[in-house]
Amino acid sequence: STYKVGYFVGSLSSTSINRTLSKALVALAPKDLELTEIPIGGLPLYSADYDADFPSEARALKDAIGRSDAVLFITPEYNRSIPGGLKNAIDWASRPWGQNSFDHIPAAVIGASIGSIGTAVAQQSLRGVLSFVNARQMTAPEAYIHYTPEMFAESGEVLIESTSVFLANFMTEFRDHIRRVLTVLPRE
Ligand code: FNR
Repeated sequence: STYKVGYFVGSLSSTSINRTLSKALVALAPKDLELTEIPIGGLPLYSADYDADFPSEARALKDAIGRSDAVLFITPEYNRSIPGGLKNAIDWASRPWGQNSFDHIPAAVIGASIGSIGTAVAQQSLRGVLSFVNARQMTAPEAYIHYTPEMFAESGEVLIESTSVFLANFMTEFRDHIRRVLTVLPRE
C-alpha cells in the first residue's frame, strides 16, 4: 500500500538549504511514499488562550497531520536547537490537551547545515520534543547532512552519488519503519 507522509521544513528562508534537501528527499523516496509539505509559516504564535477555539491555520495544520500516515521533519539547526517556527508548529499540533496530533504517529528527522556537525544537536533537541508528544520515531539510520554547494542542484537533484544513495536509503528505511509501526498501531 501507499503511505502518506506529511513533511515539515523547519526553515522559512527563501534560500533554505533544508528546502533543497526536502526536494531531494521527495525525488529519491520509494514510489509507495506520497510526500506532501505541511506548511508552518502562516501560524500565529501559540498561546493556550487559543485552546477553546483554534484559528483556521492551526486547524489546517492538525487536519494535515490527521490525514498523514507519518511525518518527516527536515530542519536546520538554530543556536543548537530547532528554529522557533518549527517548535511553534509542534506546540500547536500537540494541543488542545487530549487532542495531540502526534500521538503514536511514525516520524523521522533529518537536517542540513553548513556547519560540520550537520544539525546533530538540533536533531537531538527535536527528538526530545517528539518523545514527549509520543511520536514513534525512527531512531536509525540518523542523517546529519553537512551541506556543501556542490551537493545539490537548486531543483533538489543530488550531484554527489554517495549522498544520493544515502538519502534514498534513508527514505527506504523510513518506509519500512512506517510499515512496522502501522502494523501494530494503525491510524484511524
Ligand atoms: C544558524 N546556523 C547554525 N548552524 C549550525 O550548524 N548550528 C547552529 O546552531 C546554527 N545557528 C544558527 C542560528 C541562526 C539564527 C541562523 C540564522 C543560522 C547556520 C545555519 O546552518 C544556516 O544558516 C543554514 O543555511 C540554515 O538552514 P536553511 O535556513 O538554509 O534551511
